[in-house]
Amino acid sequence: MVSDLSPMDTAKFVSAKRALDFVESGMRLGLGTGSTAAWMVRILGEMVREEGLKVIGVPTSERTAELARKVGVPISTLDEVKWLDLTIDGADEFDPNLNLIKGGGGALLQEKIVATASDQMVVITDASKEVETLGNFPLPVEVVTFGWETSKALAEEALMNVDVMGRASTLRMAGDRPFVTDEGHYILDFHLRRIGEPRKLSLILNQIPGVVENGLFIDICDTVVIGYGDGTVEVRDINAGTVEHERIDVIERDNLFVDIAD
Ligand code: A5P
Repeated sequence: MVSDLSPMDTAKFVSAKRALDFVESGMRLGLGTGSTAAWMVRILGEMVREEGLKVIGVPTSERTAELARKVGVPISTLDEVKWLDLTIDGADEFDPNLNLIKGGGGALLQEKIVATASDQMVVITDASKEVETLGNFPLPVEVVTFGWETSKALAEEALMNVDVMGRASTLRMAGDRPFVTDEGHYILDFHLRRIGEPRKLSLILNQIPGVVENGLFIDICDTVVIGYGDGTVEVRDINAGTVEHERIDVIERDNLFVDIAD
């Protein structure tokens, strides 16, 4: 039951629930990937099933698509829907300008395309993801499998011209094999420790042959909803410059757990 959640899951739940206040009937929604986004999809499913909310979701991964189907959120593709009103997604880090590192779950490519094709992006997170300077979380970079070691070497060399504290990268693994993204690519995780110039770094990485996309989301996120283990949230809107605090109703709802594992 929701009331039995750990403080971390409570934080994720309340941020997801508060973010859904931004949703209106008729909206086309980008559905993020990850454990926090999974809460959002479950609650959204409940709103569709029990409140008759009418939305179309565009999932950012196979995983999210599967969950959306299970909980009854109607889904489509970005090519079908073309433009979205709102994307709600998690993040691995966010800074004071609401620039993000994403891709810890391996879905950064679809996540970035979907968020960029949205009027508004709301990030849902717990307080542990907040940093003064991005880079402690390894930066995921999606590369094509052909010649990936060359792309890796070129990227590490290019990092000599950027304000970072480390340059080493590791190929992401899934057991004893490379992790493969939904688009059939590999992911290199760059252990930079500090990213002094995220915008410059993003541009440099994306110029390297074989790099498909990187996990820096610059000027894409509009609002962050930070959930806390005590059931409160902080909502920061970077455009309006506002910060609001609220308590979210955490009630027992077993149906949010129906047949769901993420
Ligand atoms: C998925 O590729 C990521 O960008 C996720 O949004 C990010 O890893 C946050 O995931 P959690 O909500 O599970 O922390």
